Amino acid sequence: MLYLNGEFLPASEAKVSALDRGCLFGDGVYEVVPVYSRHPFRLEEHLARLESSLATIELPNPYPRAEWARLIHQLIVMQDFDDQSVYFHVTRGSAYERDFPFPANVAPTVLINPTPLITPSAQTKASGVRAISHVDFRWLRCDIKSLNLLPAVLMREAARRVGCAETVLFRDGFLSEGAASNIFVVKDGVVFTPPKSHLILPGITYDVVIELCQNNGVPLEIRAVAEAEVRAADELWMTSSTKEVLALVELDGLPVGNGTVGPLAQRLDALYQNFKNQVMRSGLAS
Ligand code: PDD
Repeated sequence: MLYLNGEFLPASEAKVSALDRGCLFGDGVYEVVPVYSRHPFRLEEHLARLESSLATIELPNPYPRAEWARLIHQLIVMQDFDDQSVYFHVTRGSAYERDFPFPANVAPTVLINPTPLITPSAQTKASGVRAISHVDFRWLRCDIKSLNLLPAVLMREAARRVGCAETVLFRDGFLSEGAASNIFVVKDGVVFTPPKSHLILPGITYDVVIELCQNNGVPLEIRAVAEAEVRAADELWMTSSTKEVLALVELDGLPVGNGTVGPLAQRLDALYQNFKNQVMRSGLAS
């Protein structure tokens, strides 16, 4: 079951207008919230990021935070699976005329769609995954979780074709992030990651990983990371709500470090799993 514009429907019956601006222009923003044992993780933070994305594109938020939370909780209990990935988006609705500026008096389209949460298997965690790199040819507002995902689609497809799971992006000689994840770099026992800016999505998992490093005495520096540092790293990890903490063991066909999942990736994954089972699954974290 999903939610579309005030109705709860089976996915097969949910229809939006062919003139929806999400469809015509990618004119909308979205979120993906992981749900563990039917507890959404950091829902407040996801809703705050949605509010920020909506405000930046001047799309009025259709619901107050409490209403979003009520709808999401209502949908979570309707599903027949416990761990969920709750996708939701707001578009600028559909107007009869296809015109670029904002239409007047048009209701937004609201979709909330929970699907089973698929996280990497223990085997994938243990082996790590391969990645390619690409010039970051996206726009200059990557902090907005925008529905304009064509660059990410092309970059992830390029990765998939060569058996890779992610594309690491560089802009002007510096690491930005992954096509659909944030990136952490390890050198000589220190973890590095770029600071939040208009060039990356402020990941909720990024925040968790930073907190886990800080709370467990793992040396961490949040600063710009040069492409050369990424290519000389001992370890690379990608982080996202669905991938959690996943080691990249190969970049552009070359091994990262010694080409196996490094000790700090193992440690952070263990800390993350522990946090997930103790805190996220109990609903204490949101
Ligand atoms: N993507 N950077 C980009 C470009 C992303 O698309 C994502 C997440 C992240 C990680 O954010 P978080 O930790 O809040 O999931 C970073 C989601 C999962 C997606 O588009 O499906």
